[in-house]
Amino acid sequence: QRRIRVPHLHQMKERGEKWAMLTAYDMYTAEIFDEAGIPVLLVGDSAGNNVYGFETTVPVTVDHLVPLTRAVTSAAKRAMVVADLPFGSYQASPQQALATATRFMKEGLAHAVKLEGGAAMVPEVELLVRAGIPVMGHIGFTPQSEHVLGGYKVQGRGAGADKLTDDALALEAAGCFAIVIEMVPSPAAEAVTRALRIPVVGIGAGPHCDAQVLVWQDMAGLRGGRAPRFVKKYADLRTALSDAATAYAADVAEGTFPASEHSFES
Ligand code: KIV
Ligand code: NA
Repeated sequence: QRRIRVPHLHQMKERGEKWAMLTAYDMYTAEIFDEAGIPVLLVGDSAGNNVYGFETTVPVTVDHLVPLTRAVTSAAKRAMVVADLPFGSYQASPQQALATATRFMKEGLAHAVKLEGGAAMVPEVELLVRAGIPVMGHIGFTPQSEHVLGGYKVQGRGAGADKLTDDALALEAAGCFAIVIEMVPSPAAEAVTRALRIPVVGIGAGPHCDAQVLVWQDMAGLRGGRAPRFVKKYADLRTALSDAATAYAADVAEGTFPASEHSFES
């Protein structure tokens, strides 16, 4: 089975075929999602919230994400693996972005990187693409800027919709192979999707995007508490795991585990 590459994603847009992207941060999820046919896996800096226990993605570092990326790329046979460039690891200059992206490609074995920001990131995107690194953009709500944006808020309302399309077109012209658009009204995301030749991957951006992305712990119901509006829960792994742990502990307490079949009798 051949690896999913940039031209495959562009062909899917031409054919009007929608596809799903998921985050993955470890070997088993990468293996499972890859075998399920998910064409693109994202080692997101959402690992900050979903692996490392931070409240935001801001504290996430390159050292946090490179080993996770390597685990995911090593386990995924077919999926394209995209790694997030963490906050502070690419905004200083195109040179900084190239040095960071190079680490993800060399040490993380990533197939592509993703960075947040619109037209302002054009010099960074251009240098990475020139150097041979596929870049996915990310506009709309950009979690790394949440302290500037004032929290988790829908972006691109009203006049913001035109800015969104301008940013998306600038990223496409700079050479991005795809763009994530997060938490924007459906009509604004639809306008961006129509305006671009490259695939637009939505999260909280309505049904008209070329693709969708969700954080896997949200999609599979592993996280506790209330999920954002744009999440659909396809499983209840939290309950399943909690039940398993409870049953295991009870068996141990009662002395019914381990049984003879779990033991070396001689
Ligand atoms: O880090 C992440 O998981 C992301 C996706 C939600 C797009 O950036
Ligand atoms: Na991210």
